[in-house]
Amino acid sequence: MAVTLDLSGKVALVTGASRGIGRAIAEALAEAGAGVVLFSRKRELLEQVAEGIERSGGKAWVVAGSVDNESDVDVLFNFLEREFGKLDILVNNAGVSPHFAPFAQTSERDWEWMINVNLKGVFCFCKRAFPLLKKGTNANVVNVSSIVGLVGMGNIAVYSATKGALTTFTKSLAVEWAAHGIRVNAVCPGFIETDMTSKVRQNKDVVNYLLMRIPMRRFGAPKEVAETVLFLASPLASYVTGHCLVVDGGWLSW
Ligand SMILES: NC(=O)c1ccc[n+]([C@@H]2O[C@H](COP(=O)([O-])OP(=O)(O)OC[C@H]3O[C@@H](n4cnc5c(N)ncnc54)[C@H](OP(=O)(O)O)[C@@H]3O)[C@@H](O)[C@H]2O)c1
Repeated sequence: MAVTLDLSGKVALVTGASRGIGRAIAEALAEAGAGVVLFSRKRELLEQVAEGIERSGGKAWVVAGSVDNESDVDVLFNFLEREFGKLDILVNNAGVSPHFAPFAQTSERDWEWMINVNLKGVFCFCKRAFPLLKKGTNANVVNVSSIVGLVGMGNIAVYSATKGALTTFTKSLAVEWAAHGIRVNAVCPGFIETDMTSKVRQNKDVVNYLLMRIPMRRFGAPKEVAETVLFLASPLASYVTGHCLVVDGGWLSW
């Protein structure tokens, strides 16, 4: 049996590709041969990622914008339609989280911000991508959720609500889009070393608690999430849909 992970000829779109987990996902997909369209707000950072990919022999395109800005999303999807006329892989990775704080200190503005980016953004991207995904081959979507989309955690209730909704959205869309040959999966990372967790990782007491709570006794690297996304996005996962794959060093296993 030949096991291959060759994505040549595929077109992938990664949101939040400028840094952290999204950057690692874009690099992994490009390394596997996919042409990758990089989307997030900061053009300069995206261009650095694209240059790195091109230097390593991959192909990348940059479109800068915000997932919750309708005209930015229009520009992106017009570009995809014009340039490729199809989409094989959509990775909804862009996400925001304010620093950990008790629920009573969470404002309505925080709520709207997280709902708009983490949830409505995914809704809009799936809706706009649908006609293009139908023209793709082994087309699929990977949503970046979180372990707090599966279990509760203090000081993070609204973020957790957006990720919980994202995991059930993933399952329901998988059921519906199976008829169109489009797979829909999610990854649920635990604590990963990125900008999003940098402040938390500066607090020694919190770090000690977290390391005690994680069976593998370390945080994850963006690359470890990216490789899981790569599997789900590839033909190796051709019979996997509606699945939320946990990448957490064992957090949820006890
Ligand atoms: N790190 C963790 O421990 C962890 C755990 C579980 C789940 N996650 C999830 O993994 C995903 C990536 O997180 P990360 O840790 O890599 O975070 P990060 O380092 O803060 O990066 C977030 C990415 O999202 C982009 N972004 C933020 N708001 C955006 C918007 N409105 N429109 C377009 N792009 C936007 C950012 O780019 P610009 O600033 O250039 O726009 C950046 O590329 C998120 O969905 C997060 O919830 C992270």
